[in-house]
Amino acid sequence: MKDKFILGIESSCDETAAAVLLGTVELSNVIADQKLIHRYYGGVVPELASRAHQQKIIPVVEAALSEANITKNDLHAIAFTRGPGLMGALLVGVSFSKALSMGLSIPLIDVNHMQGHVLAHFITKKNENKKTPSFPFLCLIVSGGHTQIVRVDDYLSMKIIGHTLDDAAGEAFDKSAKMLGLPYPGGPLVDKYAKEGDPKKYKFPTPKIEGLDFSFSGLKTAILYFIRDQVARDEHFIRDNINDICASVQNSIVTILINKIKAAIAQTGIKEVAIAGGVSANSELRKQFLSLIETEKCTVYIPPFAYCTDNAAMIAVTGYYKLLNNRFATQDITPLARMAME
Ligand code: KG4
Ligand code: ZN
Repeated sequence: MKDKFILGIESSCDETAAAVLLGTVELSNVIADQKLIHRYYGGVVPELASRAHQQKIIPVVEAALSEANITKNDLHAIAFTRGPGLMGALLVGVSFSKALSMGLSIPLIDVNHMQGHVLAHFITKKNENKKTPSFPFLCLIVSGGHTQIVRVDDYLSMKIIGHTLDDAAGEAFDKSAKMLGLPYPGGPLVDKYAKEGDPKKYKFPTPKIEGLDFSFSGLKTAILYFIRDQVARDEHFIRDNINDICASVQNSIVTILINKIKAAIAQTGIKEVAIAGGVSANSELRKQFLSLIETEKCTVYIPPFAYCTDNAAMIAVTGYYKLLNNRFATQDITPLARMAME
């Protein structure tokens, strides 16, 4: 099975992506991102996302095939994101994948996007001897739409043991950035300014949520009122303190995440821990996550930047594990805006 070429297609939000894997080995990973299209509106506009996917899906797939140095006739299977995501955006990837699988008479495999983020840890490069997590492991998935702690028992057996009750961590970053007048998506910019700032300069309240669940809406409101009050006193407050504000906001979000992952380690006794999703690109989260090796005596897995944010290699690798288990989709499959973890 290691010699199977798998095409992955991702279109759940604002990235049109295609990747070719040979087994778990990445041969190409192409992404056309739409950030500039949505930036003017301060967030993803679903209808514009669908239209952009439609325009980009064919060139992106062609680029992925050509970079992998194969033609579509070499493919053994097509894996696509079924959900969760924006319905119109998903529809483009689902319809395209169905048509291509029918045209080529090769298997079609549906993938849960969140499962893809977790299994991104198993993508390898040519001749790479990579240490991958062993089962069971814990994975903190932090993206623009989700914040979950997942117990991973096997490639295709995962259970959510903690999740956000309101906003996702990525949303907390993006909404804070918006309050500071930064363009969408603000997470990476908060990260950038925070590098020059003092994370202890401003204190924001930490939510008291039982168990392994998260909440970020209280923090968001506290930041909103803090900025409003400071700007009322000094109209240049944001401009003059942007680095310290970003560092303090980032520190508050990361502290919430790290405390919960520590609680999950204590509760489950599992010492193999991974992070995944767009926010796992955050430098402070990566730094504090690494420190768990010392404080919690655990082994940590941090994905390369290219596999943190949405990509199709993670969809293709999940497709590979489903192919190994003969888990295929049929032509009547439909996208799902919400989707439970397998
Ligand atoms: O996983 P992803 O690419 O898309 C979703 O499935 O949502 O995650 C996107 C999220 C956005 O909220 C973005 O601001 C955040 O990841 N993000 C970051 C960083 N890079 C991306 N947040 C904080 N620091 C970063 N360096
Ligand atoms: Zn994602």
